[in-house]
Amino acid sequence: MASTLLWLSVLLQMILIISSGLTIPSDQPSFDQNYAVTWGGNHVSFLNQRSEVQLSMDQSSGSGFSSKLGYGSGFFHMKIKIPNKDSAGVVTAFYMSSNTSNHDELDFEFLGNKEGKPITLQTNIFTNGHGNREQRIYLWFDPTADFHDYKILWNPYQVAFFVDETPIRVFKNLTSRGVEYPSQAMQIIASLWDGEDWATDGGQTKTNWSQAPFTAQFQGFAVDGCISPPGSSASSCSSPGLWWNAASFRELDSSQNTAYQNVRKKYMTYDYCSDKQRFPVLPPECAMQNTR
Ligand SMILES: *[C@@H]1O[C@H](CO)[C@@H](O)[C@H](O)[C@H]1NC(C)=O
Ligand SMILES: *[C@@H]1O[C@H](CO)[C@@H](O)[C@H](O)[C@H]1NC(C)=O
Ligand SMILES: *[C@@H]1O[C@H](CO)[C@@H](O)[C@H](O)[C@H]1NC(C)=O
Repeated sequence: MASTLLWLSVLLQMILIISSGLTIPSDQPSFDQNYAVTWGGNHVSFLNQRSEVQLSMDQSSGSGFSSKLGYGSGFFHMKIKIPNKDSAGVVTAFYMSSNTSNHDELDFEFLGNKEGKPITLQTNIFTNGHGNREQRIYLWFDPTADFHDYKILWNPYQVAFFVDETPIRVFKNLTSRGVEYPSQAMQIIASLWDGEDWATDGGQTKTNWSQAPFTAQFQGFAVDGCISPPGSSASSCSSPGLWWNAASFRELDSSQNTAYQNVRKKYMTYDYCSDKQRFPVLPPECAMQNTR
């Protein structure tokens, strides 16, 4: 009797080991759980039990996907490998958008380049339909060689963009001082598209179609966000009980701030807040953003 039980327990453990080998780890849900293809379906392919997606672009189409739900706050992320070799004109985008007429939007845009020349990472922020808040940096690694984690923290206190653990941009909630702040539910979107009119050398370097198809890979389809239907206000997502709204996420800590200032000093190539030709009167947030 005892030996039968022992064998049963061994058998059960073997079944558990075998079945766990077949399932996707819970921190890497399959694409379909939270996302759906929204553009260029025949230019999208799936790898590793749909825990990785490849977007491709050629002269006939680019491609993209979007979260099925909208979110009103959260700490969003995507692991991305940018197209390699000659990718001039090619834009890889990972962003949040409310998709409304006066839209809120938070953008990561990787601007491709000729082989051997650095990829620019541009960020932008739209509030109530108003954008024109571009910042650009070079990265301290080759984003075409490996996956890196690109993250957007959005809570009632700040929007912060991170590359892996390093903050590269902060946009504080300064509504009390008259600056607009994203307040509408947003969906998470990723796409690969032709931006040859503007993306590389201000549009002078065009996409070299003989290098097509261009491909980018995406992983990490878990979502840490507060669900809020597209078209709704984000106001139901401000609870301090949500971990990304907790005190430690309301501003950068001192080591994050040191890392952030270092990025601004060493890697920033453009900041709308320094562009006095474009803005003879700088936008109001410029004087308020980069102080703690
Ligand atoms: C945005 O809205 C348009 C028009 O309503 C729709 O066709 C499109 O699929 C929406 N995009 C996303 C990402 O939901
Ligand atoms: C921005 O902060 C104000 C308080 O200053 C708050 O009332 C508002 O809800 C915040 N906005 C968002 C979208 O969280
Ligand atoms: C486009 O790519 C082809 C194939 O590698 C190369 O021969 C050609 O010089 C490239 N054109 C430009 C304008 O860089």
